Parts: sequence; structure tokens; C-alpha cells
Amino acid sequence: MDIQEQLKKIQDEAASQISRIRDKSALEDARMRILGKKGELTMLLRSMGQVPPEERPKVGQMINAVREKVTAQLEALEQEVKKAETAKQLEKETIDITEPRPHVTAGSMHPISLVLDQILQVFTGMGFDVVEGPEVELDHFNFELMNIPKNHPARDAQDTFYINDNTVLRTHTSPVQARTMLSRKPPIRIVSPGRVFRADEVDATHSPVFHQIEGLVIDKDVTMADLKGTLDAFAKALYGEGVTTRFRPSFFPFTEPSAEVDLTCVNCHGKGCRVCKDTGWIEVLGAGMVNPKVLEMCGIDSKVYKGFAFGVGLERIAMLRYGITDMRLLYEGDIRFLEQFRED
Ligand code: PHE
Repeated sequence: MDIQEQLKKIQDEAASQISRIRDKSALEDARMRILGKKGELTMLLRSMGQVPPEERPKVGQMINAVREKVTAQLEALEQEVKKAETAKQLEKETIDITEPRPHVTAGSMHPISLVLDQILQVFTGMGFDVVEGPEVELDHFNFELMNIPKNHPARDAQDTFYINDNTVLRTHTSPVQARTMLSRKPPIRIVSPGRVFRADEVDATHSPVFHQIEGLVIDKDVTMADLKGTLDAFAKALYGEGVTTRFRPSFFPFTEPSAEVDLTCVNCHGKGCRVCKDTGWIEVLGAGMVNPKVLEMCGIDSKVYKGFAFGVGLERIAMLRYGITDMRLLYEGDIRFLEQFRED
């Protein structure tokens, strides 16, 4: 077979092969087999040596002409294959807009988390740091450094969960006061939220596990007026301008003087109603000036520094804020209850 015959054969075979090709990989195979480095046309070009010199230009032109023709055929085919593949893909990807979407439900914040976030915002806005303490606490911090002596009723096993003789589940967040005074130098301004534990029976207003947020300020000229101003600002930020605080004398071993602090009833705004038992006030927290004994036990010179502290029950704040009348609802995890506190 001379070169011309071979060329003709290559061209014919290419044409019939190409007409049968339907996909990309067959197309690439054909391209390699005909035009590739070891392809039929390339090999033919290499055998030009056997062609008499005077015929070489003519044969060369013929080979190039076939190469161009095959290349053009392959390119046209490539366009077609691409189009067909795109069409196939699009068909596969059609979206059925009548298909019902999967049921997606967004989560929501727990009421305790919601009020805690709001409270933290108020206090960090006033320059307080947020610190946390352990839930399993040494008797030393929970009681001793809080000036709660050995025979104090608060230590009774009826109220306190004991881990062992000197370890308890903390009964309040106040031990964080001691931990902070021992680890920081005044001026100190912290709030400390967290879980606390008391051996109480469950009812509409009690739970063995509940939440408090503790506040502590230590500085040179801190007075009861600063405590009152801070708590007023807190009450107004949380419940609105019309709400203020009322201090009643009280007793805590770790503060002197001590106060029970009431807020203007958020339900009746002081007029008197069922929620405030017609007093116009609702008790929400305990507070006072840090007992100098506590300051001294925690390494702070009580002649130079004074301090105030307060402890707020978060459950009570959340219940007042959202009109929840039974504390148990906060812990039952009933989705129908919890869903009501979505704030979007
Ligand atoms: N620790 C007290 C309680 O749990 C609250 C409190 C904190 C009172 C700080 C005064 C100062 O009842």
C-alpha cells in the first residue's frame, strides 16, 4: 500500500469512527489514535523518508489536508457531545417545585439563658467582668470564707448536698466572691452566673438545682448608695423606666449591713395585684456591704477598701419577666412551652 492509499484508508476509517462516537471519552480515544504522538497520521508523517524527494511536498500537503479535515470533524463532534452532555445533565437536575420541603424547625433560647444574656449585657455595660466558679465547691469557700460558722443552720445537711466532709455542691454563687478577692487585686467589679444546689423539695417556686448571678464590687470609696444605684440601673434596664428598688433590712453572714431588695411589681407597676400580694413590691435579691471580716479573710485591707455584693435568683427574674407561674415548667423541657420564647 503506498502512502496515498494509506492516507485514504485513514481518512475513511476516521470518518466512519467519528460518526459512531457519542461521548467524550470515545472522542478522546479517537483523537489520540489518529492525531496523537503515536497516532496513525503522525506515524505516516514519519515514514516520509521512503517517499522520493520530489514527491515529498505534495505528499506532505496531502497529509496536512487530511489532518485538518479530521481535526475539524473531531471539533464539530466535540461541540455536539458537549451539548448532548449538558442537556442530559440539565434533565437530571430538574427541580420539582411541587415537592413539599423537608420540615425544618429553628431552635430557641431557654428563658433562663435569655434573661442571663440581658443581665450580663447590663453589667458588662457598666464595666463588670464575668467570672465563673466551680459547682463542686470546698466548704472553705462556700461557708468558711463567707463567714458562715460551723454551727450555722445553712450548713445543715437538710439544706446542703455534701460530697464529703469538706466538699459540697455550692449552695450559692457567693464562694466566687472569695475566689475572686483571693485572685485579683482591687478595684474589683465582677458578676458570676451559675448553677447552685439546695436540698429542697420540688414545687412551683423551689428546685434542688437553680441559677443565681452574684455581683461583687470592691474599691476605696464604695458605699451603700453605689449598691442602690447599681441595682436601680439593673432593674430599669431589665424591666423598664418605671421600675425601681426598695431595700429592707436583712441579715447575711457575709454582708453588713444586709438588705432584701424588692422591685416595683412588674405586673401592676406598684398598684397592688395577685403577683405582689397587693404590696406593689416583689422580692428578687439579697445584697449588702461586704462584711469587713470577709474582706480580711480574703486578704483585703478593710480599712482601705469597702465593697458591696448581691445575689439574684435567675429563675425568679425569668418567671417575672415572662409571666411564668410555675418554676417546674423551666426544667421539664416541654417543647410547646419552650417554643414560646423564640425571639427572632
Ligand atoms: N448568697 C445569698 C443567697 O444565696 C445572696 C446574697 C449574695 C446576699 C450576696 C448578699 C450578698 O441567698
